[in-house]
Amino acid sequence: MEKMWAGRTAGETNQIADDFNSSISFDSRMYRQDITGSMAHSSMLAACGVLTAQESEAINDALAGILEDLDAGRLTFDPAAEDIHMFVEAVLTERIGALGKKLHTARSRNDQVAVDLRLYLRDEVNEILSLLTDLLKAVRDQAAANVSVIMPGYTHLQRAQPITFGHHLLAYAMMLTRDITRLEDALKRMNVSPLGSCALAGTTYPTDSEITAAALGFDGICLNSIDGVSDRDYCVELLAAFSALMMHLSRFSEEIILWSSWEFKFVELDDAFTTGSSIMPQKKNPDMAELVRGKTGRVYGDLFTMLTVLKGIPLAYNKDMQEDKEAIFDAVDTVKMCLKVFTPMIATMKPLPENMKQAAQKGFINATDLADYLVGKGIPFRQAYKTVGQCVGYCVKNGKVLETLTMEEYKSFDGNFDEDLYAAIDLENCVEKRISKGGTGKASVLKQIDYIDAFLKGE
Ligand code: ARG
Repeated sequence: MEKMWAGRTAGETNQIADDFNSSISFDSRMYRQDITGSMAHSSMLAACGVLTAQESEAINDALAGILEDLDAGRLTFDPAAEDIHMFVEAVLTERIGALGKKLHTARSRNDQVAVDLRLYLRDEVNEILSLLTDLLKAVRDQAAANVSVIMPGYTHLQRAQPITFGHHLLAYAMMLTRDITRLEDALKRMNVSPLGSCALAGTTYPTDSEITAAALGFDGICLNSIDGVSDRDYCVELLAAFSALMMHLSRFSEEIILWSSWEFKFVELDDAFTTGSSIMPQKKNPDMAELVRGKTGRVYGDLFTMLTVLKGIPLAYNKDMQEDKEAIFDAVDTVKMCLKVFTPMIATMKPLPENMKQAAQKGFINATDLADYLVGKGIPFRQAYKTVGQCVGYCVKNGKVLETLTMEEYKSFDGNFDEDLYAAIDLENCVEKRISKGGTGKASVLKQIDYIDAFLKGE
């Protein structure tokens, strides 16, 4: 096949060079956006008098036909075409003859690929936002169902203070709200049209890039044509936002993996989201959570690919930029897949409150409350802290917990201890007393759920 760009050279390239240069194997996924962009371009050319209305109509009818045929699988991508842009143009020319060659007037593949990618990512990010919203709802519902389920809260993975499972889950809900707003924010900056930048310098034709921008649903146009064709900041921003999102899913996964181990047994994953072992009959493995944790590395890698591709290239377009696509496509696919499996895994996850409660009773997690109790009796906090530390040391030595120390034993540490201390260290009371904003007390947790509900309603 003669190269579309034959002229300056004979257009005869080495087969290996062709394969190396070709991007159709991965950029063909943008065919819909490529055709939509071309239709907007051809209509604009007619509106500006560069093409006649009939010419533009004939081009757009043929483009619509190509889109239909591709959708229906009647037309397949030719691997010999260099990229999706060349492919569509070649088919168009095959179908309507010389008129097809007019489509590329006042346009370059440089602004074409830039507009395709923005359109494609806009669709994908919107889908990811809806998947994220589904996950946020699932986390919110699990949290609401567990506002009174007491578990140990951890620091250093050591039992620290009593919290509720609902409160703990809401921490992830908060992260997801940030993931959502981060993507929405990136979308705003991304949603400007580079079409009309042409190769890099703009065009001599009397075109109007505002027309194509409006037709394609952009909020505006790139204000500098050189930037228009060479900007991939939106890819970097999206990959950074995806990386943060995956980091959250990965931390959540790590906890789910721990929680479903026999050492914790705080949750039971639904059978549908676990796997067995080929040799050990007793195994029920949290593979989905492990894979999400593992795939986080891929997405971080994609971010670094993008940053590294961009760091050394001079303005404006360079072929290095073709390498942007596989990285961002891989990240998009990975994030979507992870969210699709994560949401039902969370929604069907069964908490085991008895086990959480048992764990909460073992780790002296009410020690801070006991110190606060002494503070209430007029003892300075630092001294109260020391006394309670001694009580805990005594318990550890004698196989006791704070709840089972006798009044007599307590009195031997400090005469200010009294019968009311037992209520002060009761785990439910410890939780309920944490009424500070954002705290683990029920009233505070319910307010956090209200916040998530308002967020989900778009308030
Ligand atoms: N396949 C190319 C890419 O993905 C399209 C732009 C090609 N532009 C060029 N001047 N060779 O970046």
